[in-house]
Amino acid sequence: MKYNFDEVINRKNTQSSKWDNVGARVGNAKALPMWVADTDFRCPQPVIDVVKARAEHMIYGYPYTVPEFKEATINWVQKRHGWEIQPDWIVFATGIVPVFNTMIQAFTEIGDEVIIQRPVYHPFGFAVVDNDRVISDNSLLYEHGQYRIDFADLEKRAASPKAKIMILCNPHNPVGRVWEKADLIEIAEICLRHNVILISDEIHSDLIFSGHKHVPVASLDERYAMNTVTCYAPSKTFNIAGLRGSGIVAPNPKLRKGLELQFKKNRSIQQNVFALPAYIAAYNECEDYLEQLLPYLEGNVKFLDVFLKAHMPKIKLVKPEGTYLMWLDCSELGLSGDTLSDFFINKCLVAVNRGDGFGPEGAAFVRLNIGCPRATLEQGLKQILEQYKKTR
Ligand SMILES: Cc1ncc(COP(=O)(O)O)c(C=O)c1O
Repeated sequence: MKYNFDEVINRKNTQSSKWDNVGARVGNAKALPMWVADTDFRCPQPVIDVVKARAEHMIYGYPYTVPEFKEATINWVQKRHGWEIQPDWIVFATGIVPVFNTMIQAFTEIGDEVIIQRPVYHPFGFAVVDNDRVISDNSLLYEHGQYRIDFADLEKRAASPKAKIMILCNPHNPVGRVWEKADLIEIAEICLRHNVILISDEIHSDLIFSGHKHVPVASLDERYAMNTVTCYAPSKTFNIAGLRGSGIVAPNPKLRKGLELQFKKNRSIQQNVFALPAYIAAYNECEDYLEQLLPYLEGNVKFLDVFLKAHMPKIKLVKPEGTYLMWLDCSELGLSGDTLSDFFINKCLVAVNRGDGFGPEGAAFVRLNIGCPRATLEQGLKQILEQYKKTR
């Protein structure tokens, strides 16, 4: 069916974190929400239909993980990413954040090191610190407006006897890189050399722009597959993050059973009744939605890029290769940290994620969510422009 991503839907008073909690979380209830990573697009119709049908059943007792969940995951991963996975390898989880927290609990001790690559999705660091482990930050290198991996530093960090896990973000939130095969091989080899378990968070892997290809690191070599736990979910692609369903692929029984046992100890695997019907419908019936979403998002990226270059050249878009999360380099504004977030959130009244939330490397950046109708993006940019003119 044909989807209209230009449709503006009022999300206020729906218990939306992005729209209703913006005051408490971002610091200004009047700011236009362009922060947390869900989109303002209507979900695909087959998802709406199954959720409605389930709601109309009128009994919401305990569900169980139906086998169709595995089939849907296998078919999607094969079709979109060319990786053949086996039913036994798949574990249901109520989200990906719970998975890396649980993996840390299961496979590391207090004081051990977990490698992450900042600036990166902030819950990676929270998972490490909240579990009394230590962040080992293999900071990404930023040169000439582009990010790449510092492999010499990664090798050193992985060689530390306390380094036990690396959490990879592919595609990378917030810098927008879709890591290439050569990068992934190097990461996987380093992890293998030093007995570091690799968690590959591939939640954004469906959102890839023209000219780029998502490669699951575990698909490249059986040895990598045996050392990797790969995390998928339809939540970003189909805007169903609030339903809490993800598919975790762990070919190595030791890693899989360790994850499952820790889930059991935490009693944290029971899904809600809408999670699996939506998950299965999304993967089985909604590829046409994704095929239409991708050009729309690329259109938003282009709109943003053209607007910035024409009107606000001191704010630079780090060219995204995927995701709907744009990373804006604001260093030429001469603001950073508190002054930069004050500019966007209180002066422009645009609720962005502050860049230093992703690590100190992000102090002169903000993250802007463009998963919204073009009219909303335009409104946000006009608000920024009004204040930008005063900075000269
Ligand atoms: C890289 C990454 N991983 C995980 C998540 C969220 O995972 P979940 O909602 O499945 O816990 C997000 C959401 O923004 C993300 O960007």
